[in-house]
Amino acid sequence: MLVAIAHFKDTTPNIGDIAAALGTSRQNAKKMANILERHGVLRMEKDKNDLRVIQLFLTEKCFEYFQSRAHLELEYMSGLFAGIDEPLLDGLDIGIRKLMENTELLLNDDDEKELALTKPATTGSSRKILVTYKSQYGTTKQYATWIAEALKADLLEVSVAKSVDLSAYDLVIHGGGLYAGGIDGVKTMLKKNHQKLIVFTVGLADPETADYTEILKMGFTEQQLSKVKVFHLRGGIDYNNLSFLHKGMMAARYKYFKSRNPADLSEEDKEFMATHGKVVDFMDKESIQKLIKYVKSEK
Ligand SMILES: Cc1cc2nc3c(=O)[nH]c(=O)nc-3n(C[C@H](O)[C@H](O)[C@H](O)COP(=O)(O)O)c2cc1C
Repeated sequence: MLVAIAHFKDTTPNIGDIAAALGTSRQNAKKMANILERHGVLRMEKDKNDLRVIQLFLTEKCFEYFQSRAHLELEYMSGLFAGIDEPLLDGLDIGIRKLMENTELLLNDDDEKELALTKPATTGSSRKILVTYKSQYGTTKQYATWIAEALKADLLEVSVAKSVDLSAYDLVIHGGGLYAGGIDGVKTMLKKNHQKLIVFTVGLADPETADYTEILKMGFTEQQLSKVKVFHLRGGIDYNNLSFLHKGMMAARYKYFKSRNPADLSEEDKEFMATHGKVVDFMDKESIQKLIKYVKSEK
């Protein structure tokens, strides 16, 4: 219900609007609203023009709750939909291609009968590199594809990589979209046993000016961070394309910033407000060069 209310960006919904949005009766919606009001996350007020109509407002406590839990909600949703989303289809595609490669190898009466999965792609320096990614709308996937091409590395979506033995790889590069300060898929990849990990994030914020301190704290322990090199790239967003949950989260963030004194907003917050609801694309293939040079310069 809170997400549904947040979806009404510039207008205030009433019980009837929310009941319709949730596909439930006004009586049920009223019951839910009463419970949420008791928890202090929602306020009900009679419409001044029609006292029979009850308007619903999100409270400051609700905005704080959204802000603090946003990444957990996302992790939960990602967990819930794990295995049945578009990346799985990509994973299946990769798996089928591997099966075909393996079949070819088995059919070819060659001396080198190593299966494709146990023979990862290599760079010129014969290091075995895997690029993994977790991407909700494709921007991180695009960067991961460019990076894998540039390094002649294998490419796997996290839901596939998590069940693959990565010990044959000298280096794993993981890319994750930024969601409420969390790096998509990074926890899964940190749990995997591999030689070395590089991470790249993809977010809306401008890496030239953004402060990533909190993001790094949320994503890694100090010990992990001392071993992992992190790069930041800029993605994009198409609000028309966002899931219901994401639209709600973004609308709640917008409302929260709107309710604050503009002088207290950071440049990043202001830019978020300016791009809210639009289609923005900051993707830049050249920006992967820093990461590519770093990998190539390593022994
Ligand atoms: C619910 C939500 C939360 C987001 N949180 C952040 C954030 O904390 N920092 C940021 O820079 N970008 C944030 N973004 C923007 C995404 O990181 C950006 O759209 C990125 O390109 C998404 O990558 P993907 O398409 O590969 O998933 C957020 C987007 C959504 C929808």
